[in-house]
Amino acid sequence: MRKLVAAAERKELMYTRVCAQCEPEGEMALYRKITRLAEARPEAIADAAACLRTGGLVAMPTETVYGLAADATSDAAVASIYAAKERPTINPLIAHVLDMDAAREHAMFGSEAEKLARAFWPGPLTLVLPVASTCRISLLARAGLDTVAVRSPSDEAARALIDAAGVPLAAPSANRSGAVSPTTAAHVVADLEGRVDWILDGGPCRHGLESTIVACLSGRPQLLRPGVITQEAIESAVGSPIDLTSRARIAPNAPGQLASHYAPNAELRLGAATTSADEAALDFGGSLKRGASSERLDLSPSGDLVEAASHLFSYLRALDAVGAARIAVAPIPDHGLGAAINDRLRRAAAPRDVPT
Ligand code: TXA
Ligand code: MG
Repeated sequence: MRKLVAAAERKELMYTRVCAQCEPEGEMALYRKITRLAEARPEAIADAAACLRTGGLVAMPTETVYGLAADATSDAAVASIYAAKERPTINPLIAHVLDMDAAREHAMFGSEAEKLARAFWPGPLTLVLPVASTCRISLLARAGLDTVAVRSPSDEAARALIDAAGVPLAAPSANRSGAVSPTTAAHVVADLEGRVDWILDGGPCRHGLESTIVACLSGRPQLLRPGVITQEAIESAVGSPIDLTSRARIAPNAPGQLASHYAPNAELRLGAATTSADEAALDFGGSLKRGASSERLDLSPSGDLVEAASHLFSYLRALDAVGAARIAVAPIPDHGLGAAINDRLRRAAAPRDVPT
């Protein structure tokens, strides 16, 4: 209670949500936390960073999607990320750092990795690299692998938080495991309120789609997850074609690479030309013939893939919220950012019988 009063007295807090009961929640025996929601301004960032240094959980905005951050060097802090998200511990986490210098302590950069970091950092590119001998990233965050995923985000609030925390931040997307990634603070509240210490609200994420993941291990760089930075952009920075074929080999059990992921409650019907009465509609460029469907959102009426990517997850959540059993999705061109959009849509549409 004292904590609450102190929080309420501080003007930077937009509001504080209170949970009176301290009951274990579900099978995970998760104890509900008091979640503080505040605009991502300097004072709140400083308080959230202090919380991170003592093992707390902070949802932070990034330019891609909201991340659920904890001290990447602490096994205990990282364990609480997995618990809050109900994420299988076989699925490794990305360590967020300020720049390449900071990343070098944990990961080994070959020439291709250097080219990519120089071209796209800070920004929406994650590099999977061999661990350095000085690596302090928790083995749990790495899921026991001898590789580590590193990313330097460009979002100012995320950078300020990493800087103030003084440690690399392990941060998966701030949704419950298997669900659609969050692109607003409200999405994070819906999934994780009572499970995290802070939610920093930085407004809607600029890109709205997760980072591109490229592994630079041996041989050609491999595209592990299509994302905001397109294959074409990666290849032009590296100066040669990248490997698109071996996505599942590096972390074969990682749910982010399993078929069903990013899944809304509703079923998805992809490549639809028309909609039926019981379906909600997710259109692109106005191509879906208007049927009797009541709910319809257009990812980009003008057919702009960048705009469509930024709306994808929030529109899936919005159509889910109206309770439609099925969502008909218009075809999305498969070039540029469309490849990443189609990747997420295929996973959202996949059968749900695999563990996520
Ligand atoms: O844009 C993003 O990347 C966001 C923001 C918050 O940075 N993060 C994000 O994290 O999407 P997450 O955990 O939802 O997805 C990270 C993916 C997972 O599919 C995981 O399996 C993969 O990265 N990954 C992490 N470390 C890896 C490794 N060492 N080898 C292969 N895959 C790895
Ligand atoms: Mg995720």
